[in-house]
Amino acid sequence: MTAEIIDGKATAAELRQKVADVGAEFRQKTGRAPGLAVVLVGEHPPSAAYVRSKVKATLEAGLQSFEHKIPAETTTEELLALVDRLNADPAVDGILVQLPLPKHVDEQAVLTRVDPDKDVDGFHPVNVGRLSIGLEALVPCTPLGCLKLLQKYVGDLSGLEAVVIGRSNIVGKPMAQLLLEANCTVTIAHSRTRDLPEVVRRADIVVAAVGRPELVRGSWIKAGASVIDVGQERVEQPDGTRKLLGDVAYAEAAEVAGSITPVPGGVGPMTIACLLRNTAVAAHRREG
Ligand code: GUN
Repeated sequence: MTAEIIDGKATAAELRQKVADVGAEFRQKTGRAPGLAVVLVGEHPPSAAYVRSKVKATLEAGLQSFEHKIPAETTTEELLALVDRLNADPAVDGILVQLPLPKHVDEQAVLTRVDPDKDVDGFHPVNVGRLSIGLEALVPCTPLGCLKLLQKYVGDLSGLEAVVIGRSNIVGKPMAQLLLEANCTVTIAHSRTRDLPEVVRRADIVVAAVGRPELVRGSWIKAGASVIDVGQERVEQPDGTRKLLGDVAYAEAAEVAGSITPVPGGVGPMTIACLLRNTAVAAHRREG
């Protein structure tokens, strides 16, 4: 079998267009476009690159972007004061504080200070709790993007065995909650899981989010399974070039899987599209 390629780039483009349409309608009604504030603390190069992509996509969708680049030495108190200002700003519908924050900053205090109604990352304990009991919530962008890909390419997920590899607050845990909400039988595997290949072999849906390049081998995948690869690590090749690799050995897995996301062009573009979607949703809810 050769797997169907799950086209995250095209799916993200569709979603971004939808957000642009909804955003334009919002602007007609309210006189302003939905606004997203992005906060970048310090110079961490991958974070700076992510923030550039987020700002670019925000503007391309016709939304308003508020960019706050502040020095690495910023204290927790100063950052909390900025979050307070953004919470109070009526032009700001969504607030994203790019992670990781410098070590001296109390990350949880900052994430918890964001108004839950503006929490487009879905990291606030209120949104985490709402998701866990099946209430309407702002949901973290990467797992939401994975769910949208599965719904498009697999359809009804009800009753399927899903294995999520990785238990991070940003991806693994919310992914498991979303799959549970979609009526999957869900297993969360992690670094202490015994016999990971055997656990993965029973999955109809595999979501790999561990950040270990090519950990998941083709021989672990059940024939016909859908494979969603959240990993994207730049790895130096023998010829000195650097290649972006996922958590799944793509060529091997594509031989057995029913459908699979490529890296790049799979989950990555969906994360940003879902951020814009969450901003539009937050704007609509705030304008009631
Ligand atoms: N750093 C890596 N992924 C994310 C994300 O989804 N949101 C934020 N705020 N920071 C991140």
